Formats: sequence, structure tokens, C-alpha cells
Amino acid sequence: YSAIIEASKEILKQNDRGGYTIPAKGLYPYQWNWDSALVALGWASLDETRAWEELEKLLSAQWNDGMVPHIVFHQPSPTYFPGPEIWGSVESPRGSTGITQPPVAAISVRRLFESAHDKELALKTATELFPKLLAWHRWFYKARDPEGTGLVATLHPWESGMDNSPAWDEALERVPVAKLPPYERRDLGHVNSAMRPRKEEYDRYLTLVYLFRDADYDLKKLYNLSTFRVTDLCTNSILHRANLDLQWLARQIGRDDADQEIATWIARTQVAFNSLYDPAAQIYKCRDQLTGQMIDASTSAGFLPLFARVADTAQAAALAATLERWLKKVRYGVPSCDPTDARFEPLRYWRGPVWAIVNWMITDGLRAYGYDALAETVELHTLELVEQHGIYEYFDPVTGAGAGGSYFSWTAAMCLAWIL
Ligand code: DGY
Repeated sequence: YSAIIEASKEILKQNDRGGYTIPAKGLYPYQWNWDSALVALGWASLDETRAWEELEKLLSAQWNDGMVPHIVFHQPSPTYFPGPEIWGSVESPRGSTGITQPPVAAISVRRLFESAHDKELALKTATELFPKLLAWHRWFYKARDPEGTGLVATLHPWESGMDNSPAWDEALERVPVAKLPPYERRDLGHVNSAMRPRKEEYDRYLTLVYLFRDADYDLKKLYNLSTFRVTDLCTNSILHRANLDLQWLARQIGRDDADQEIATWIARTQVAFNSLYDPAAQIYKCRDQLTGQMIDASTSAGFLPLFARVADTAQAAALAATLERWLKKVRYGVPSCDPTDARFEPLRYWRGPVWAIVNWMITDGLRAYGYDALAETVELHTLELVEQHGIYEYFDPVTGAGAGGSYFSWTAAMCLAWIL
């Protein structure tokens, strides 16, 4: 894999903007939250100091209420929409969007800490970052789970990271579209429109942004007024795993005082996850919090409870069986939507394509439950895609064609994390 390694390293260097890494030139010219946290794992294999910087820079954008924003606008860029002028952060010192993203950071801090050669730097930086991570996780419970259910709400498809997942179709359709100022999508100047969300979705993404902006991103108001509110499997799986890693870190760095608080979150979520398991479909599903209904869509997020370690052995076996069924239907796994579902679109962003970061999380989960051979298959599929088609944002699970952005940072980072 030496060619993939070299190309991946080169991509991180090219996309480095000094302390933070953009996901892809033109298409995503700022620092994205979960991208950055995953990209830090790639940096770890070539420059440990730079890996820590990535996380320090991300967490330096934390809001006073604890939220870590989904995009940080470090430098102006005309190639992305909606930028700071739409989010209303031009005149504010925040310089970011007003929503969050799946909280990968604590997971990365633990991994960097464990693999560190420079132990002193690792201890110093992890100790500095710990209170910020704890504050962010606290924010999730305060802002997004005020009733203490153990599962947090996601208020915007962009927060889920899986923007146009079929899981959001019905909930999003019910968002009444506001009278929007005319806007021009910049993503379509970089990527073929067949690979991106549709206009109906963008209108609603923007409607929600204006709604939140008018409420000054007040956490209580947002929770109550958002016309989109779901229990997202990706966010909740990542948050739970991040709590396990945060608890581990607390013990390593002598922050045992935080142990009980984190343990309470962990215990509650562990139980609450059972309400998201669909035994008939043999997969976990998201829930629409506004209707209370389980969402009838099987997506790759349905396997992430393995990454979270919340599945029991029977559930893990069922997930492995479901995954094997999916893999028989496509050439490359893991498709982001059940390939037998009518909503499956192999090139359209989160409606079918394979994503390296999801594969990385799924393989981590499979191995933890003893499904090593299946994990190996998924890993080999991913490396084959990259080797034959390039380091793309995502891939067509049927043909293998690369899609979305090219020279893509988190795909490169996952290759480095896997191979090295
Ligand atoms: C985009 O602009 O497509 C991003 O996914 C938003 O985070």
C-alpha cells in the first residue's frame, strides 16, 4: 500500500491551512468538526504535534455554552455556501456555524494519547483538552436531552453529518419552507448535481439555519422551536463511544472527579439504545422525536451501535448478518443505505455511496464483537476503492467510481489510520 500511504500524506499536507485541515479544496474550504477529529488520526502517523494541533484548533472554537460548532470559519472563502454571512457570524466573534456535529474529538484524543511517542506532550495536551471535551458532552445533555432520556436530539441534517440520508426524508418534508432570500449553491460548482442533495433539501437546510439564527442560537429555544428533531444513530453512537473514551482519559490524567458524571451518561444511554433496535429488520433505526415514530430506513448508521459497544451479542450477530446480506447486493461495502431499498441511489452522497470513515467505525465495531473476517472484508473493499479510483469523498458501491470531492482529507486519514 505504499502508493496509498504517500498519496494520503500528500493530501493532508496539501489541505493543511496551518493548524487545521480543510476537507477538500474549493468544496469545503473551512475547518469541519468531525472531519478534523478524524483527520487528526491521519496526522498522528506523520506528525504527532500537528495531530494535537488539529484538535486544539477545533476546540478553541468552542462556544461559551460548551457547543463545538460544525464549521469554523478561520479565513474568508468565496467557494462555499452558506458561509459566515448567512450564519450571522461575520459580526460576531464566534466565526462559526451555530450547530454542532457528531462529537468524535474525545475518541481521537484517546487514540492519540494511547499511541503517543511523545508521552509528555500527550499528557499535557490531553489534560488541557479534557475540560473542553467534558463541557461539550455536558452541552449535548443540557441542550439536546433536557428530559434526561439518554439519547440526544439532532436539530439539523448537517448536524448528523449524513445530510441527505433517506432517514431524514419524512422529517425534513414536514419542515415548512420559509420565504428564503435567493441563494446560489456553490457545491454544484465543484461536484455533479447527481452526487449532491436536491434543491428541496437545501431549501429546508436553509430554512432551519434562518430559524436558528433568528433565535440567536439559544440552546433552549432551538430545542423547542426546531421543526426538525430526530434521534440520530450516528451522533448517539459516537457520543456514547466518546463518553467511554472520555472516562478512560479521566482515569489516565487524574480527573477521577469527572468519573461519576460520565458514568451516569454511559449507564443511561446503554439502556436507552435498546429502544432504537428493530428486531424485525435486524438493524438499529433512528427516531423522529416530533412524531415519536421509529424512522423506517435502514442506513449504514444502523451498524454504528457496534462502534458504540451498546449492542448485546445477539444484536451484534443480527447486525453482522444484515451487513453480510447487504454485501451480497453490491460490489463494495458498506453502502450508506440498504441497497434493496427503493431510496438507494449509489452516487448521491448519503443515499447509497460508501464512505471510508463509516467503514472505519464499522470495522472497529465488528472487531470488538469478534467479527474479524467481516471487518477484514470491509477494510479490503475500502482500500481497493481507494487504490483503483483515488482518494475520493465517497464511492459508488456498485461500480466503485469515486464521487464527490477528490483529494479528500478524511478518506486519506482513514487510509493512514488503517494501514500504518
Ligand atoms: C455541506 O455543505 O455539504 C456540508 O455537508 C455541510 O456540513
